[in-house]
Amino acid sequence: MAIIINKDIFTIQTKNSTYQMKVDHYGVLLHTYYGEKTDNSDKSLLYYQADRGFSGNPYAVGKADRTYSLDSLSQEYSGFGVGDYRITAVRAQNADGSQAVEWKYMGYQLEKGKYAIPGLPAVYASQEQAETLIIQLKDTTTGLEATLYYGVLEQCDIITRTVKITNQGKTDVILQKAASLQLDWEYGDFSLISFYGRHSMEMNLQKEKIHHGVQSIGSVRGISSHQYNPFVMVCEKNTTETMGSCYGFSFLYSGEFLIEVEKDQIDRTRLLCGIHSDNFQWTLQAQKSLWLPEVILTHSQQGMSQVSKNMHTVIREHVCRGVWKNKRRPILINNWEATYFKFTGDMLVKIAKEAAKLGIELFVMDDGWFGKREDDNTGLGDWTSNEKKLGCTLKELSQKIISQGIQFGIWIEPEGISEDSDLYRAHPEWVVKIPNRKPCLSRNQFVLDFSRKDVQDYMIKTISNIIKESSASYIKWDFNRAICDKFTNALTADRQGEFSHRYVLGLYRVLEQLNNDFPEVLLEGCGGGGGRFDAGMLYYTPQIWGSDNTDAIERLSIQYGASFGYPVSVMGSHISAVPNHQTGRITPLSTRACIAMAGTFGYELDIAALTAEQKQEMKHQIAVFQKYYSLIQFGDYYRLSSPLEGTCTIWEFADPQGKEALISAVYHHVQANSVPVRAKVYGLKDDAMYQLSLQDYGEKQPEKLPYGFCSGELISGAALKQVGFVIPSAVNGFQAWQIYIKEK
Ligand code: GLA
Repeated sequence: MAIIINKDIFTIQTKNSTYQMKVDHYGVLLHTYYGEKTDNSDKSLLYYQADRGFSGNPYAVGKADRTYSLDSLSQEYSGFGVGDYRITAVRAQNADGSQAVEWKYMGYQLEKGKYAIPGLPAVYASQEQAETLIIQLKDTTTGLEATLYYGVLEQCDIITRTVKITNQGKTDVILQKAASLQLDWEYGDFSLISFYGRHSMEMNLQKEKIHHGVQSIGSVRGISSHQYNPFVMVCEKNTTETMGSCYGFSFLYSGEFLIEVEKDQIDRTRLLCGIHSDNFQWTLQAQKSLWLPEVILTHSQQGMSQVSKNMHTVIREHVCRGVWKNKRRPILINNWEATYFKFTGDMLVKIAKEAAKLGIELFVMDDGWFGKREDDNTGLGDWTSNEKKLGCTLKELSQKIISQGIQFGIWIEPEGISEDSDLYRAHPEWVVKIPNRKPCLSRNQFVLDFSRKDVQDYMIKTISNIIKESSASYIKWDFNRAICDKFTNALTADRQGEFSHRYVLGLYRVLEQLNNDFPEVLLEGCGGGGGRFDAGMLYYTPQIWGSDNTDAIERLSIQYGASFGYPVSVMGSHISAVPNHQTGRITPLSTRACIAMAGTFGYELDIAALTAEQKQEMKHQIAVFQKYYSLIQFGDYYRLSSPLEGTCTIWEFADPQGKEALISAVYHHVQANSVPVRAKVYGLKDDAMYQLSLQDYGEKQPEKLPYGFCSGELISGAALKQVGFVIPSAVNGFQAWQIYIKEK
């Protein structure tokens, strides 16, 4: 039993963490603890309350106890406007014009298994793997209810949270803010780790001390965005990769989000995570409910690395679904950087033919195959193939490609619509725009209104036809702009605040339908690279193109950032040409391979332009990736050294049983007379003996290896962890090494 209820105390025990709430004398649900595993005793007894001037007291309490204030209590889910002056979880406009929400505890329920959320992505688990706790709160004046859901995956150290808001009153309530998660800490000195960026440069790590005041990240762009990722960590002072108290929060949502933290007047910290309130207003009619998106929570006392590991496991095993969850993903080649828009059917068949010879398993035809799409100014929305350009029908082209012994995949951007398209001419009302205003262009395109059911149905039909006609076994679902001009003519003026969330619900409905109808088809998400790289999308698309930046060295930091919240198995990563198209940098082919192997692995270059020697090397890379596939995709991932400091970025994939490991090391900076770079290996068995060998898949290997470790000595797991070994030094710029460690 992971959920223990003792009178008014709710304790959730996972393998290594404890979470606790308590209903107090006044019916307020307090948050009393979340952190390192402890017992079930009442933690609120250790809390301290004092009379705080200007922090008022609820009427029912005030005369008796001036130390009791909503402003200073750690609460599980705060209301609004009745005495808690911090950032709060909910705000609503009531029929009388007030905005007050005051929650009181009503009761609880326990369920076996993990709850699901209608229309939204959610962690799933078997009846044996999970339990659900449901707690009912109510504003007894208005009848607004908040049903708090806790999904507990005990063995994974995962707790999920969501809320269903229901209007049990008689008149409409307008929700103006509704966070999915609130977490209060009674004490602690924390830092917030978040990931910021821009198109082609996503996932930059930022660690900031949580100071007095409010800090926030979020998106008002209609997508989760390149600018901030909806995954954050909160860690206590001095936490490192392997030590210290650390929390992870992943929002399963692909739209506008807000993650806020506030350190208050008495040094308590509050975190809120939910749909961004700026573009959100939801009318709840009597008896109607709104489910909020889910948040995944985890805690470890063993630092950031373990929090990442927990997130990797839950996303791999309990978010990604269907056939592709555990099936080996194909090694693909995409024609985008090889041809951009300038291709013919024959050129594509040629690439596919060459690729098949090297052992590549899937050919992906990217943008430009449809409508009048010769550049990014036209054609989006016209999802019929450009037969003049392809020289045949889509069906014929895919057959020609498949007959080369390679699968066929295809790029689509269903949410995009060009002004110069037949779809726009037929349905101008399907475009997201505000009446009497010209909508903003981005990449010279508009947005198709996915909040509309007729648009969703049209796209389901259109995409289904593409899949059937082309026998596609893979779809790349792209979206190349952010959303503004938020308005839909499917809703009345007073309900326009529902647009952004309804858009995401519409997107999810289409993706869900495609998953159901085409379970064998692999979907890869993409939003101009990592513009919609979130756990919500991963419920529908088990991999996402990591970034439009394919430069191997830049990818080190993008993939490093992503690794904090997401497993390697979801990261779309390709080897591209040099000089790199985004940065002009030249890196060895072997280095590009090593870095693409920290992802789903594929190619995106003109094979025809490669030498026989390079093709041979590619063949070898493919064999190497196949050999280590399980270790890479399902092994435990460790960040051994960061691309943001030092000279060498190192990461490790370890077999969960500790029998083998693969270390990848890339010199992002080469120095003369270099200082040795040491890697301490995690995840091995202390008392087992291991042998190290250098994986040779590259050009210009040194004639003599600089260190003795490769010559066959047996080294204990304990020594490899505590002393580590020295990575061979760089013999050329951006040198990469892969070191395989095997138990003997
Ligand atoms: C986006 C994607 C690229 C490519 C182009 C095509 O930028 O991220 O991989 O598909 O669109 O227009």
